[in-house]
Amino acid sequence: MQAVILAGGQGTRLRPLTLTCPKPIVPLLNVPFLHYQLAWLRQHGIREAVLACSYGVDEIRRVLGGRHAAGIRLSYAIEREPLGTAGALRNAADAGNGPLVVLNGDVLTDLDLSGVIRLHAERGAQATISLTSVDDPTRYGLVETEPDGRMLRFLEKPEPEHVTVQTINAGVYILERTLLELIPTGRVVSMEREFFPELLARGIGFFGHTISAYWLDIGNAETYRQAQVDLLTGTVTTGVQPPGIRRGNLWIGDESSISAEARLTGPAVIGRRARLASGCRVGPFSVLGDRTTMERGSHIDGAVLWEDVRVGPGARLSACVVADRCRIGANAEIGPGAVLGAGSVVPDGARLPA
Ligand code: GDD
Ligand code: MG
Repeated sequence: MQAVILAGGQGTRLRPLTLTCPKPIVPLLNVPFLHYQLAWLRQHGIREAVLACSYGVDEIRRVLGGRHAAGIRLSYAIEREPLGTAGALRNAADAGNGPLVVLNGDVLTDLDLSGVIRLHAERGAQATISLTSVDDPTRYGLVETEPDGRMLRFLEKPEPEHVTVQTINAGVYILERTLLELIPTGRVVSMEREFFPELLARGIGFFGHTISAYWLDIGNAETYRQAQVDLLTGTVTTGVQPPGIRRGNLWIGDESSISAEARLTGPAVIGRRARLASGCRVGPFSVLGDRTTMERGSHIDGAVLWEDVRVGPGARLSACVVADRCRIGANAEIGPGAVLGAGSVVPDGARLPA
């Protein structure tokens, strides 16, 4: 069975991180995000995936490397201009018969995909979408179904007054390939605003299946950090381990140098060739990228640092995200919710957010 991963969005809600790193490959515990999706697909017997890409495709290719990843054969379908979620699917999928798995390239889940595929076949459905529950459906696609799962309504990004249920589209679909002919070519087409409503209007066998598994869209800074907390606590089950040697609930990268006077409290991940000077403290849910250095007496707690970040002496970082090559000045304080784009320079003693 073939999977298509929609991986061509601009990741605007994850800016400034996505200005230099496309969303599908933002690191989670120092592993590019798509590896988690590919490993999960592989666990459910999928061996072939097409990445529907546009924005940042060269970088995605470079990071995933080669034609195989996580035991899956990869190919790329590139849109010169983004074609929208359905346009991208039409552009990427092989013609033919039989079902296709389609994923939003930003959902972290351990849902039972094999079970959804089975249910789709048993019902003789043409389209099955996975559903989950959230507190605020206005940021998602709201879905109403009949008690037997038949789709009744799909409303993308509903206004608060139109929220009737907590159930939303989880961005994991099983679609019969013959349906792709309903997607017009040569223009932008949205799955959520055009294709799904079209399936409803035509009375096609279209079902929703509510999952009870872990599910998170990693597409904003808050959920991006939350995903890593959830991976570290084992709230979500994946076949992916952070790189490095595991010591209890710490993962220590190769060739890292950690002072005997540094204090590490897991769960935490330290990247390859990281350097931690004396008096450093790394608190729970911290992630240090490769070659990151923490100078004397600096503390980080629940912070996610990408590669080549330098944390100056006495600096304090908590629950923030810091992209590649940032320089954090001596005694600077970076607090919860701050997100620094690649190459940012924080002066000595500065406080963020102000
Ligand atoms: N190739 C390609 N081309 N991919 C695209 C394009 C495009 O033009 N536009 C978006 N994508 C990809 C994004 O990269 C992402 O992986 C996926 O499609 C969904 O886009 P988002 O921008 O993340 O959408 P969303 O999170 O606001 O809403 C979607 O996901 C929700 C679940 O997380 C919708 O599908 C909602 O209905 C759903 O509830
Ligand atoms: Mg999203």
